[in-house]
Amino acid sequence: MLSPPHHDRPIVLVSNRGPVTFTEAADGTLRSRRGAGGLISGIGPLVEGTDTIWIAAAMTEGDRRAAATGVAEAEGFRLRMLALDPDTYRLAYDEVSNGVLWFAHHGLWDLSRQPAFDHSWTVAWDAYRAVNHAFADAVAEVAPAGAVVLVQDYHLCLVATRLAVLRPDLDCVHFSHTPFAPPVWFSAIPSEAGRELLHGLAAHRSCGFHTQQWATDFTDSARQCAGLTPSTFVAPLATDPDDIRRVAASSACQEALAALQAMVGDRTVIARVDRLELSKNLLRGFLAFDELLRQHPEHRGEVVFVAEAYPSRPGVAAYARYQAEVELAVAEINQRWGTAHWQPINLSVEDNFPAAVALMRRGDVFLVNPIRDGLNLVASEAILVNERNAVLALSAEAGAWDGLQEAALRVAPFDIAGTAGVLHDAVQMPAAERQRRAAILGGIVRAHTPAQWLAHQLAAAEA
Ligand code: G6P
Repeated sequence: MLSPPHHDRPIVLVSNRGPVTFTEAADGTLRSRRGAGGLISGIGPLVEGTDTIWIAAAMTEGDRRAAATGVAEAEGFRLRMLALDPDTYRLAYDEVSNGVLWFAHHGLWDLSRQPAFDHSWTVAWDAYRAVNHAFADAVAEVAPAGAVVLVQDYHLCLVATRLAVLRPDLDCVHFSHTPFAPPVWFSAIPSEAGRELLHGLAAHRSCGFHTQQWATDFTDSARQCAGLTPSTFVAPLATDPDDIRRVAASSACQEALAALQAMVGDRTVIARVDRLELSKNLLRGFLAFDELLRQHPEHRGEVVFVAEAYPSRPGVAAYARYQAEVELAVAEINQRWGTAHWQPINLSVEDNFPAAVALMRRGDVFLVNPIRDGLNLVASEAILVNERNAVLALSAEAGAWDGLQEAALRVAPFDIAGTAGVLHDAVQMPAAERQRRAAILGGIVRAHTPAQWLAHQLAAAEA
């Protein structure tokens, strides 16, 4: 029986999005594909080929069919997919998890209008609880005796409360890949639901975060909003170098790189790769580039901004509005500065990971400027595959800042003029300095492995 290194207790991993997506082919057969995203590229290789059971929601029609088969083996994973009532799941995922909790944890509310909780909130919260209980029931059904249950993220805060009753032999650990709302934001959530959520998290042996700041925000909210003092631990996730290098070496990435090269030629490339998401701060990033071109005419025609943004959460209306705003800003900037031979910004909105990795290889400057971000694995992925000693311009509000600040340039995410100044410094940086910083960044990223992150979870289960 295989288990991750140095651990003899069985493991059950629980997350909303699973490591595999199923689609129905034209002939009716089910095809599986490994999913993208930090959770999967970080944790996937650790549990692939082991006895770990991964429980996740069925998010596509194909997933729902796979769910009907019970625990399935796919892409090297042992999976249990949960087919939940679609309306209940939509309320839990779109309305509560992404519409409220995500906004609270990332400070995204536009407070003169949002949040606003009317009669529909209770129904949505009941759906969130029902989904969490369905996950708990599935864990209770499949978890071997004495297993460690690793619950991931804000979608699943109430699983442990129910498991404590159903399966007291299990040890549950929770890990948030997001920041956590400090009391001033957390207290905007209706208090009964807020208290239930905090009690749910406190029911774990311990709750993990990528940085001390997020752990402190959580303990502050738990104390002030529910009178609780939960145990916490800090364990930043790392990128698996082999995984990202495998994509970098693929023919799809090679082709994407050739196409990118044909487009940018020998210009300096400012690059970004993100989900198309409010917290990632794409809009201010493009406005900073606009400011750069205004302040420094010498960069016009010489620098190009290439952005790979993949669509996310179409069920949340604010995302569609944000995408429209971003696209409009890009069109205006291109209109203002573009020439017959130079388009200042190339924004691609599609789910094309090989193209994103091609951009990571070719970029000269990486702009990672989130408003607030649990960690941000794109920064370390880019460092691992970049071939040009790229400069990293990194928001101090990203969890990744803690580890990379020694050699990254600091971006204040709300300061557009300041960000333009950082981009100017990055574009102008002498080759020797770029090399020095890139070497430091590479050393830091390579020194951390996903296995260390997993070891922290398992240690927290014994605490
Ligand atoms: C980001 C966050 C994760 C979260 C995921 C959900 O990657 O860092 O904490 O689980 O988004 O994204 P999804 O596409 O599944 O809504």
